[in-house]
Amino acid sequence: MKYDWKQAGEEWSEPWGTSDAQWNGTIFPRIRDWLPTGTILEIAPGFGRWTHFLKDYCDELWAVDKSSECIEACRQRFASAPHVRCYLNDGRSLSMIRDSSIDFIFSFDSFVHTNRDVVEAYVRELGTKLKVGGKGFIHHSNFGEYVSSPRERLPDALTKPLIKLQILDWAHHRNPGMTAELFRVLCEQNGLHCITQELVNWRGRRLIDCLSLFVRSDSAEENATKIIRNPNFMREAARIRRESRRQR
Ligand SMILES: C[S@@+](CC[C@H](N)C(=O)[O-])C[C@H]1O[C@@H](n2cnc3c(N)ncnc32)[C@H](O)[C@@H]1O
Repeated sequence: MKYDWKQAGEEWSEPWGTSDAQWNGTIFPRIRDWLPTGTILEIAPGFGRWTHFLKDYCDELWAVDKSSECIEACRQRFASAPHVRCYLNDGRSLSMIRDSSIDFIFSFDSFVHTNRDVVEAYVRELGTKLKVGGKGFIHHSNFGEYVSSPRERLPDALTKPLIKLQILDWAHHRNPGMTAELFRVLCEQNGLHCITQELVNWRGRRLIDCLSLFVRSDSAEENATKIIRNPNFMREAARIRRESRRQR
């Protein structure tokens, strides 16, 4: 089914109140050490919810999405920012980007849905597109950690009422084929190294999402990945929402 972009993705920031509050309270504090920078690559920007903020932290921003509707919307939205270049791709390759030319890779709220083979294809590309010393921040699924649990084998007729009663929580279309561990392994196989992985809950209690921060393997001493299990991500969102409402 075709997505109705009437709110340009702003609706997904509802737990934080606004995308502005989500950027300032949750995303920016996690990446601020690496910004501003020279060239940013954003994968799957949609209608530019995060491009809008990222564009002020770089000399050049490449935004690549597989949807022509999204790329057209980004071109219009950022028409007055010539350093933002928007490209349509085939959903897995980054041939329009020069090798070793990217300082910072960013993707939020998109890789959570993609299949393992697509994530793998991109990670392979990222290993060649990142500069030595470059960094990446990708929000992806960790739902695979839960798919072998007995509750995932319950029939829908049973899980739906339990979700309504808030006894179980919903998976929000997270991809069951991806985990933090698998993402880490794919990075290692493609010349990248995860520095930290923050496993976070998304609307429910389970840590079905992961925020991975990575570098090129040849650009840093390879310490073991720091894994943070954060069950308070949505509490953080609720606090940010309250604070931003008070300030308005
Ligand atoms: C849920 S939207 C999120 C958009 C944006 N990141 C945001 O947070 O507002 C998912 C986006 O991912 C894009 N997308 C999905 N699969 C993709 C792929 N394999 N390659 C590039 N873009 C993809 C879709 O076209 C859409 O723009």
